[in-house]
Amino acid sequence: MRTEQPTTIHLTDYRQPDYLIDETHLTFELFEDHALVHSRLAMRANAAGEGGALPPLVLHGQDLVLQSVALDEQALTADAWQVDDSSLTLQPQAREFELAITTRIEPQNNTALEGLYKSGGMFCTQCEAEGFRKITYYLDRPDVMSRFTTTVMAERGSYPVLLSNGNLIASGEHEGGRHWATWEDPFPKPAYLFALVAGDLYRIDDSFTTMSGREVELRIYVEPENREQCGHAMDSLKRSMRWDEEVYGREYDLDIFMIVAVNDFNMGAMENKGLNIFNSSCVLAHPDTATDMAFQRVEAVVAHEYFHNWSGNRVTCRDWFQLSLKEGFTVFRDAEFSADMNSRTVKRIEDVTFLRANQFAEDAGPMAHPVRPDSYMEISNFYTLTIYEKGAEVVRMLHTLLGAEGFRKGTDLYFERHDGQAVTCDDFIAALEDANEADFTQFKRWYSQAGTPVLQVDGRYDAASSTFQLLCRQSCPATPGQTEKLPFVIPLRLALLDGEGREMPLQLAGETQARGTETVLAVTEAEQLFVFENVREEPLPSLLRGFSAPVKLVYPYSRDDRVFLAMHDPDGFNRWEAAQSLAVDVLQGLIGIHQAGRPLLLDQRLLEVHRAVLKDDSLDPAMVAEILRLPSEAYLVELAEEADVEAIHHVRDWVRRELATALAETMWSRFRQLGDGAGAYRADAESMARRSLRNTLLGYLMLTESSEALSVCVQQFVEAGNMTDRQAALVALVNSPHEQQKHAALEEFAQRWNAYPLVMDQWFSIQAASPLPGGLERVQGLMKHPAFTLRNPNKVRALIGAFANQNLANFHRADGAGYRFVADQIIELNRLNPQIASRMLTPLTRWRKFDEPRQLLMKAELARILASDDLSPDVYEVVSKSLA
Ligand code: TRP
Ligand code: ZN
Repeated sequence: MRTEQPTTIHLTDYRQPDYLIDETHLTFELFEDHALVHSRLAMRANAAGEGGALPPLVLHGQDLVLQSVALDEQALTADAWQVDDSSLTLQPQAREFELAITTRIEPQNNTALEGLYKSGGMFCTQCEAEGFRKITYYLDRPDVMSRFTTTVMAERGSYPVLLSNGNLIASGEHEGGRHWATWEDPFPKPAYLFALVAGDLYRIDDSFTTMSGREVELRIYVEPENREQCGHAMDSLKRSMRWDEEVYGREYDLDIFMIVAVNDFNMGAMENKGLNIFNSSCVLAHPDTATDMAFQRVEAVVAHEYFHNWSGNRVTCRDWFQLSLKEGFTVFRDAEFSADMNSRTVKRIEDVTFLRANQFAEDAGPMAHPVRPDSYMEISNFYTLTIYEKGAEVVRMLHTLLGAEGFRKGTDLYFERHDGQAVTCDDFIAALEDANEADFTQFKRWYSQAGTPVLQVDGRYDAASSTFQLLCRQSCPATPGQTEKLPFVIPLRLALLDGEGREMPLQLAGETQARGTETVLAVTEAEQLFVFENVREEPLPSLLRGFSAPVKLVYPYSRDDRVFLAMHDPDGFNRWEAAQSLAVDVLQGLIGIHQAGRPLLLDQRLLEVHRAVLKDDSLDPAMVAEILRLPSEAYLVELAEEADVEAIHHVRDWVRRELATALAETMWSRFRQLGDGAGAYRADAESMARRSLRNTLLGYLMLTESSEALSVCVQQFVEAGNMTDRQAALVALVNSPHEQQKHAALEEFAQRWNAYPLVMDQWFSIQAASPLPGGLERVQGLMKHPAFTLRNPNKVRALIGAFANQNLANFHRADGAGYRFVADQIIELNRLNPQIASRMLTPLTRWRKFDEPRQLLMKAELARILASDDLSPDVYEVVSKSLA
């Protein structure tokens, strides 16, 4: 852990590196109580700094024991270099030289899971963003790209598999039961893409023939007991490879592509060149143990990491301020892939729901930052929803503005122009502009201005002139360090619906003919008027279709308008959106009534929309499930000026019960019609949609507290042929008042699956998220469960993360005990794993959203964390910014 106060790094301070590293030769000697890392670097002064004396060479390094340094094969004495907490400095004597360094590290004690560490019995690495400096002294920055050759040496019995990036070029035996393997990666890469794995792993083999006819070996490495759970990841990989060829013309480049699954991992997965390392939760999927959601996550993450081979590896980032260059683009790519593989509309609904509940909250909070941040203290804190999800929305808008063909011309030029380079978001935009003769000067404000814009639209119909005027106003709230915002370019996809819900022809004033029945307007001014002509009757506009921009849309729809759109909008996404916004409106109204102490009465229109949707066989069942699922508590908190935790929880729960009671008959008949869930499990979109609706209905039916629902639920729990159905039944039981059945089910589940860590994560999560009273005590009890450990990030997320993020009622207990508990865990995690500690802080940083007593309690816990010893830069940055 660094001891000095972390400093702030600014984008405007970017300078080219003084030195470059043409070749990197690494040798790892792995032992149980330490590892030796020998590096030999072929270096040269960067031509950009030519002339004058050679500058000192400052290498990054952290938590290393330096054992030796040699310049051009001359060992240096300790007076020839300076070492501190974070660097090694020495003075080169020539423009080109070879630097050899040996460091000693202790992977077995590395609980931060950054650099070289042990997970279970295996050695593995995580170098993004700045983990390589915990392996050896190096120029650990993405604009220094080098060709790597890596030799791994270890004991053969425990570590029969030795892997690194690229191709295996040699291997052999050593005395004393040790062996070695040498890997060579022909593609220059920054250190953050370096990877090494050594362990006792089972290998699943497959192959892929690329579009030019080259054969690529595909391998997934897992612990032997997981060998049956890799089929879905392998299929997803092959589909991703084909899709990137078809949609982007991008072919894989090495002869081998490897994925390794590890249990202890800070994030989802990592795109190391030719050797992706995955959190096992994003690889393993078997119908008996993984839910449909897990299957979809595996597919998406495999695709995401694979797509990075072009958007991230072949073309990488110049500096970490450009992180969204690879992440936003790659999330957009994986979202489009998932949309093509499954239901496009449902995928979009899921992503928009997630963005609005979470990224909007981030954008309105103390850590708000632009898609391309101006400054940071700890880069690990900037792997955010803004960089990833909002970044993807920005790329999506570019795709919308250019059209699929224009966008493809732009990405072709981008990859061609910058292959092998480390570039910026501006370079990406320039390629799209140059390929399309477009001008994105104003559009680029999406990269520099933080905050969620509000787009206020008003419509006025004039029957006499048959015109419809659309007045658009945009504004953007202040965010930390940014008070004045300039107008964005907001692509507004829309249609105008007639009284039957049909789309009418769209002809803008000044145009000689209609442009079709759906169009994209570019809103570029703070205030802007669009006039449609030849509009034969008063229309109802269907706005921001497909969520064409990450903004908050305000339009003065009446509840009847929303009902109409929910029933008739030909656009599936906007049908859902109308039902959703109707539900938001109803819930917000009831929250006010509840606060005023008046009795609750449900607007029958919400009920009728749900009834109609339930009876509509032409709708995708997954869509029906999405509509029935009311806006989340988290989203209602986000929308509130001051969130009333008790009222939000009470009212949402009450509405769910009202719907269940009133629609019980319709729900039962649809539930039965969807089949009993038996029959062979299939992971296709259609089967998943069926299970999704059926289990949503089971959740509702259990709210009626009928004995029939209980027995159907218990039966489903016992007899389910897959984890999706079993888990849905468990969730319903855990959230029910049926103590005996609940405990029996939890007990049975834990007994049966205790050897499956990922299933136990679900078991922890379901209980941690249960809103029933006494939640904190239950979570505290579970912390002592033998399957729980603070050292495994998945366990921390499953128990503490689920409690703090998905259990509004219990986390926000009025006495502050929920906050105190989470703060205690953060203080403990700060010592073990600063990245995870920092992530667990998010719910506490949202204190401004709540009532004053809660604000005080939350701030007190943040202050207590800030005052604790040995604060990591990760935790320090988030806590200090959220208290500022
Ligand atoms: N580049 C990874 C991705 O696919 C992100 C990542 C994986 C990461 N592991 C990490 C970032 C650890 C920071 C720390 O999105
Ligand atoms: Zn990524």
